[in-house]
Amino acid sequence: MEQVPLDFLGEMRRTHDCGALRASDAGNRVLLMGWVHRRRDLGGVLFLHLRDREGVTQIVFRADGDPAVHAKADMLSSEYVIAVEGLVDLRSKDTINPAIATGEVEVVCEKLYILNTSKTPPFPMEENSDVKEDARLKYRYVDLRRPQMQRNIILRSKVTFAVRQALVEQGFLEIETPFLGKSTPEGARDYLVPSRVNPGSFYALPQSPQIYKQLLMISGFDKYFQIARCFRDEDLRADRQPEFTQIDLEMAFPQQEQIFQVIEPLIVSACKVAGYTVNAPFPRLTYDQAMRAYGIDKPDMRIPPFTCVEDLFVGEGLTTEGLPLVIIRIPKVGAVSRKERDDLKAFGQEKGLRVFDDMKRLDRDFPEKMAAVRERIGAEEDDLLIMAGWGGEPQGQRPEYTMLGACGQLRLQAAQKFADKHKAFEAKEFKFLWVLDFPMFEWDDEEGRWNAAHHPFTSVLDEDLDKLENDPAHCRAKSYDLVLNGTELGSGSIRIHRQDVQSKVFSALSFSKEEAQAKFGFLLEALEHGAPPHGGIALGLDRLVMILAGETSIRDVIPFPKTAKATDVMNGAPSEVPDRNLRDLGISLRKA
Ligand code: AMO
Repeated sequence: MEQVPLDFLGEMRRTHDCGALRASDAGNRVLLMGWVHRRRDLGGVLFLHLRDREGVTQIVFRADGDPAVHAKADMLSSEYVIAVEGLVDLRSKDTINPAIATGEVEVVCEKLYILNTSKTPPFPMEENSDVKEDARLKYRYVDLRRPQMQRNIILRSKVTFAVRQALVEQGFLEIETPFLGKSTPEGARDYLVPSRVNPGSFYALPQSPQIYKQLLMISGFDKYFQIARCFRDEDLRADRQPEFTQIDLEMAFPQQEQIFQVIEPLIVSACKVAGYTVNAPFPRLTYDQAMRAYGIDKPDMRIPPFTCVEDLFVGEGLTTEGLPLVIIRIPKVGAVSRKERDDLKAFGQEKGLRVFDDMKRLDRDFPEKMAAVRERIGAEEDDLLIMAGWGGEPQGQRPEYTMLGACGQLRLQAAQKFADKHKAFEAKEFKFLWVLDFPMFEWDDEEGRWNAAHHPFTSVLDEDLDKLENDPAHCRAKSYDLVLNGTELGSGSIRIHRQDVQSKVFSALSFSKEEAQAKFGFLLEALEHGAPPHGGIALGLDRLVMILAGETSIRDVIPFPKTAKATDVMNGAPSEVPDRNLRDLGISLRKA
């Protein structure tokens, strides 16, 4: 390959970025720098698109220009890094490019500096080029130059700034908490970091800053926030990464309504940055209401709720005694094939439901009752209707929630199956919602004990305090989730600020006194040093940006994400370390 002579940057400075020039700049001398995006050689006249993060400017090398510059321009290839000095010229009417902001002008190159060459890029830089994710992650630094990724990362920066601004305006202080700490349980495994100076001891990277932010309330730093990196060793999905970012906050003396009133304007401004108008306040549903209407604690409200109709069919034996009978309605589906109906029925049956998919038959068997059902749900001609009851013995600690949960899955399955017909998921419509009063505990079948549904520092509803010991299944928490279009965007709670109540909750979670002391003794002690009532929330920044950017994977809004196996294919992390490093840490590896 011909050696390309490279120029120095020296004292050269850009006069404009590549998205700045307009017709009013015509006649001005400018100096631009960027990457060669595209080149076209039209028999002696060479056109380049010069690109930086702000846009693209056309550069022209005219046939009658300096032959030395022309010869240099002939050496250019895609993604070379260059500086161009020249005069801004108006394009002729028929060559104006309305697709780009600088489309009325071009820069006639007088001086060309090649600052660096580039290997042929591993994939095209164009919009919508279909590139395999493996290649994108291996050459992430090139992938990030693609327009989609540039837009997403810029949006992320703007959303983060809007969030900071909204919180600072509301009197919040940004305070950092340690990465090297002790386990903060959020339901995942910890990433552990060995301590060299304390051989055999490990730090845990924070799953969240939960305990530190509570300690900050005890220290009097009311209204804390942090754009906090969190680390969780858990199974990865499209909306989960091993390290991710939370918008984390905590307040002293709050009612939960006050926390909602902090978050709502923050979300409104984040959406505004992305070009969307959303209206606050957001609707509020209790967990129980959400389950009875959507069968899930993170309802996607772009599809209508289902309706419980057991009161209309008393004694007909369509569902297990005492459990709901539900009618699911998916609008604008129209004709459904036998196979599609059978598939949905099989799906529901697998979840334990008794599925009535044949509406004609129900109409024939229960004409009056079905007329009342249709009236209650406002059924329309092209709606898909499915009725579901429970097929056998009640299951779980709260059988009605087990049954409603299965209906929720069937509703979503049906909605997804016919997504191309109703198109509800395509609309850029943001349906935010607060879900409140979650159950305090979840039954762990494997371990045969109760786990905290949110985390063990969450307080119980005042009226359910006596259920803590007697009736954990019905004990509700002062916890809440922010939900957007079926995704859990954030989660929070009013915390326990009394040592005696915290100890009771640890014991309801089957922690022995010694265990509670070993894990959280410092917190129990801190609660005895003037802990104010406090509460807070954390929103997933990656998830928020993902939805605002119209993406379906958080990897597309994280500059350097991990694969589903928690690896970085670009730099090979995680990797083995030399034996010497392990020795320093007092670690020897076990043979698998
Ligand atoms: P929680 O565990 O519900 O609550 O997390 C809050 C929000 O963080 C986001 N999130 C994730 N995003 C990407 N990848 C992950 N692996 C991941 N895990 C969680 C979600 C979630 O809603 N300390 C509490 C909050 C509090 O009580 O104040 C906590 O961390 O959007």
